[in-house]
Amino acid sequence: MKIVLGPASVELGEKIAELVSSDTVRVAHKAFPDGESYVRLKSPVQNEHVVIVQTTSAPQDSRLMQLAFLAGASKRNGACKVTAVVPYLSYARQDKIFLEGEGVSIETVACMLKAAGVDDLLTVNIHAENVLKKFPFPAKTLSAIPLLADYFVGKGYGKAFALAPDKGAMHIAEQAQSVLGGGAGHLFKKRDRYTGQTTQIAEGLDVNGKTVIVFDDIISTGGTIMGAAKILRNLGATRIFTACVHPVLIGDAEKRILNSGVKEIVGTDSVPHHVSKVSLAPLIAKALKAQESG
Ligand code: R5P
Repeated sequence: MKIVLGPASVELGEKIAELVSSDTVRVAHKAFPDGESYVRLKSPVQNEHVVIVQTTSAPQDSRLMQLAFLAGASKRNGACKVTAVVPYLSYARQDKIFLEGEGVSIETVACMLKAAGVDDLLTVNIHAENVLKKFPFPAKTLSAIPLLADYFVGKGYGKAFALAPDKGAMHIAEQAQSVLGGGAGHLFKKRDRYTGQTTQIAEGLDVNGKTVIVFDDIISTGGTIMGAAKILRNLGATRIFTACVHPVLIGDAEKRILNSGVKEIVGTDSVPHHVSKVSLAPLIAKALKAQESG
């Protein structure tokens, strides 16, 4: 197995390679003056199982093209198998048709990767797991929530209450609760599909006097977490933290979240950011080793 260090995830790829004791393949890359992407594998991959580590957070489209080009280059250069490790798989939130006239973007992305040469895919906390069944190759999602919960145990918040910002994310809060042991619950969230505006409410949630950690797959604008923090403050929570797998954190989201009464934001290196305090490398390395031996 050889680990191709996708330009978006060089550090994570190096950590994974060390844990699985594999050689790395460095990538030369640039953008042409008109914006088109260029990649080149800097060492041979003939007859190798190639694992490309490349996240697809912003700029999503060029990172997706780099991933597709790396898969194509690997096959052209004789790789026998190409596994894409894509910690943050962009477009996964458009996993169904919400309004007439739309497409299912994530299915199109998967078909594009298949055509490029990807044979299977590993991702982390994809927004909705069931979409993977429709991919044209085997695809698996891992969960980094126990690793994030462990971080808080290490900080002395082992009995914190795990909160999901909406009902659909309750499985995330339950995974965190199984590490933390301080109880779990969820808010209710509704989204207007035309304006994107969300409203959140709490029903029967007892967090008075508790330390609460809001767990989510993605924090993007921070609106969801700020809404949750407001509710938690009104319900008497003593301390509020937030943890997410993919700290997309666009614009001044981080500042606004911290100003809303959240003490700390913790993310993973799925999206490299200074809040990425938890590495996905051990989780991904374990899955790759299991794949090799299975
Ligand atoms: C949506 O359901 C996701 O799980 C996240 O809650 C959402 O993407 C977070 O977005 P934002 O930070 O923009 O509220």
